[in-house]
Amino acid sequence: MCFSIHLARKPLVDVERWTLKQVQGDGSGSGHRQLRLNMTTFRTLDDLGDLTGKVALVRVDLNLPMQDGAVTDDTRVRASAPTILDLCAKGAKVLLLAHFGRPKGERVSTMSVSMTLDAVQAVLGREVMFVPEVAGDVVRQAVGILRPGDVAMLENTRFWKGEEKNDPELARAIAENGDIYVNDAFSAAHRAHASTEGLAHLLPAYAGRSMEAELKALEAALGNPVRPVAAVVGGAKVSSKLDVLTHLVTQVDHLIIGGGMANTFLAAKGVDVGKSLCEHDLADTARGILAAADKAGCTVHLPYDVVVAKEFAANPPSLRTCNVHEVAADEMILDVGPQAVEALADVLKTCRTLVWNGPLGAFETVPFDAATVALARSAAALTAEGALVSVAGGGDTVAALNHAGVADDFTYISTAGGAFLEWMEGKELPGVKALQAA
Ligand code: 3PG
Repeated sequence: MCFSIHLARKPLVDVERWTLKQVQGDGSGSGHRQLRLNMTTFRTLDDLGDLTGKVALVRVDLNLPMQDGAVTDDTRVRASAPTILDLCAKGAKVLLLAHFGRPKGERVSTMSVSMTLDAVQAVLGREVMFVPEVAGDVVRQAVGILRPGDVAMLENTRFWKGEEKNDPELARAIAENGDIYVNDAFSAAHRAHASTEGLAHLLPAYAGRSMEAELKALEAALGNPVRPVAAVVGGAKVSSKLDVLTHLVTQVDHLIIGGGMANTFLAAKGVDVGKSLCEHDLADTARGILAAADKAGCTVHLPYDVVVAKEFAANPPSLRTCNVHEVAADEMILDVGPQAVEALADVLKTCRTLVWNGPLGAFETVPFDAATVALARSAAALTAEGALVSVAGGGDTVAALNHAGVADDFTYISTAGGAFLEWMEGKELPGVKALQAA
């Protein structure tokens, strides 16, 4: 049996940061308003009293980016820290469940979740015991050692084949060592796995603080939003966001398309996009989405001026801004132009809710970050005035908003990648559904 206990450092938790900023008012669309939320279908930590001596199995997302053995972004740990600390304060023995990478049912030492232990301890400001199992006697003995308020981290759930198969046997074995189940991993809720779905049917199940904040924010953005609603969807390819676009045109009033995928739509409308990234084979699909938008009363915004260059490099000599109809055969579109950005900022001024996924241009390379930065700053300013509820998430989006220096100014930034996209596609997330059923 091998338990390791590492020394803790100073707590770095900013609990407030992870609470959805409630916007209050009359819902008339001018200034502040009340988010209309229906969370009655979920049990939350507020439904829990004293838990002294009880064992809380807490699903968190510790799938963290690493470099040279160190965690490079602890956002997801900070997101779940309020849940863990709340349960500790209630006297529970907290057992963290998480996956790390995709080991496909094998023990892969480089994918041990213990790689994240230092980061977790640093954020929590307390010692965390590492237990190299998820079920059985080893976990039972660890529970015997823990005192009320202590935390242990169980091994990568994906080391067991039953995890991804949502095997009831594995779920039952894990549940045997717990009294309650808390799911605080919205970002893994699109997976119907034993630790994200199965456990919710076996123990009294609760949404953690981060899960609760995510669900409230997403409800405010698309479930039951204050209208008009705008969506910004960027990224390289239409093919990767086909379902997102198809769903959004039926949900939002304005769909702003940027990134490489805008080129596919422009080409489908007969615009010559030169040697821009473009999925010409998806022209019919793009036209279908535009027709569906038209039918649903959704205005689709495509750039009418663009930033182009002959080569993709920082500040290339061939850089210029032009009308979309003036792109030369040897040029590629790398960002939305300044006039279009100004017009898009005006669109946002008429909206009350914004959901954002994906950058408008090749934002990692200067100056093709300009449109993303400018529009993100406009959205942040409107949010600060109380005129806009702004929710963003998925893939590159958080990096883009951090780059624009506005990530803290949005109403809510999701910690999720794939789960955020599936939610934008209108799909039911199994981890969330299981909590509702529970
Ligand atoms: C994520 O990093 O988006 C989640 O942890 C889900 O990971 P997965 O795509 O490997 O299921």
